[in-house]
Amino acid sequence: MYAQLKKELETYERRTPRSRAALEHSKPWMPLGVSSNFRSYEPYPLFIESAQGTRVRDLDGNEYIDFNLCFGALMAGHANPIIVRAVEEQLKKGTMYGMPHVMEQQLAEEICARYPVENVRFGNSGTEVTMHAIRLARGFTGREKIIKFEGCYHGVHDAAMVSVKPKADKWGSATEPNQVPASAGIPKGAWEATLVAIFNDLPSVERLFKKYPGDVAALILEPVPMNIGVCMPQPGFLEGLRELCTRHGALLIYDEVKTGAKLGRGGASEYFGVKPDMVCLAKSIGGGFSLAAFGTSRKIMDIIGEGKVFHAGTYNTNPLVMAAGLATLRHVLTPENYARIDKMSKRLVEGCNQIIKQTGLTAYAIGACANGAVMLYPGEVKNYRDWAGIDVDLWRHYWFAMVNRGVMPTPHYWDEQWTVSVAHSDADIERHLEVFAEVAPALAVAQQERSGAMAAR
Ligand SMILES: Cc1ncc(COP(=O)(O)O)c(C=O)c1O
Repeated sequence: MYAQLKKELETYERRTPRSRAALEHSKPWMPLGVSSNFRSYEPYPLFIESAQGTRVRDLDGNEYIDFNLCFGALMAGHANPIIVRAVEEQLKKGTMYGMPHVMEQQLAEEICARYPVENVRFGNSGTEVTMHAIRLARGFTGREKIIKFEGCYHGVHDAAMVSVKPKADKWGSATEPNQVPASAGIPKGAWEATLVAIFNDLPSVERLFKKYPGDVAALILEPVPMNIGVCMPQPGFLEGLRELCTRHGALLIYDEVKTGAKLGRGGASEYFGVKPDMVCLAKSIGGGFSLAAFGTSRKIMDIIGEGKVFHAGTYNTNPLVMAAGLATLRHVLTPENYARIDKMSKRLVEGCNQIIKQTGLTAYAIGACANGAVMLYPGEVKNYRDWAGIDVDLWRHYWFAMVNRGVMPTPHYWDEQWTVSVAHSDADIERHLEVFAEVAPALAVAQQERSGAMAAR
């Protein structure tokens, strides 16, 4: 570990002893002491005491301007007052019905007005809805295989847990990537049915359609992969996928768990003008509550109505979450707020790029509406393999240095990105830039020293 990173980690440990102690207390009870593997990192994660608006406070009372926002689930900001009010009202009328209520149809209507779908069903997490979307695609087409992209994450169910972050010694050739199960416990039949292609590489997709003619039910993708920083589809790529899916009778599924709310009012279909057959939504559409949905045409969804494909869930459309979802879509994620966020986000990206240029850091900042990241790479990341080449220690230096100065720039982990929320102000953006300007020169020096040392080896 190099000196500047070591110094930042020492500062972090000095400022956050209660988080360290809390993790020690948790460890006997839960693997890694946390409830989701993504929450664990070295030397220990921050434990949170409270959050409001754009501020999150740890157990030691340190406050951070939060651009992590629960892995992008809080474009509404923490405890948005409009959403809290709606949920408080609903609390007086019951928390769970397990029976139909009218908020379901109201929210379904809101979603169909925003995204290119005619019918929806609701769930509670991104994992759940990508799982149901894939099953529905299989049921509709009568085919078993699906295609996903290497490095992309669609939740933790069996079909999705293939080649999520495969190691270089396992990933195989760049033209014919291996299918690498991302966890023990996934039956061979499950992971073998998930074929793997390379993002931004149409021939790698076409090859699979040709190799398995008439076997592919669906292609699932994040239109902007946001589990490898922010990776934009190259011009023509989404159009090419649309054409290939149509030609081969497979359904195109947009996993819009991250992009659905945060790319704009109509998600990726509106942003790029390429329509999928199915859309999966979660995270920010719930305004801080566990709302998820998958939507498609009436014709495809009808097979649920006919009892051919089964969908159910005790917690689906519980009225608290529906009240939150309605308040979010009707009153928080409004055109005015999207315009404001877009402006703040552009300022953040441009400001970071200026600082990068001034300091000579080899990096670039990239953004798409509410999402953005400082990417510590020499050239644009176009797929997972480009992304995997990161200098992890340099990224850790960046993250801990920002956090030590009161700005949480992204969730911890170099595959994530920031979220600009309705709660952020211009002053928050300027503060983010001030802190980055303070941190970037040391990063540039460390980067030069490290590349010099590598060259000398
Ligand atoms: C693109 C994408 N799909 C699916 C998921 C899974 O969502 P959840 O964590 O709600 O199960 C995530 C979570 O980060 C995601 O980023």
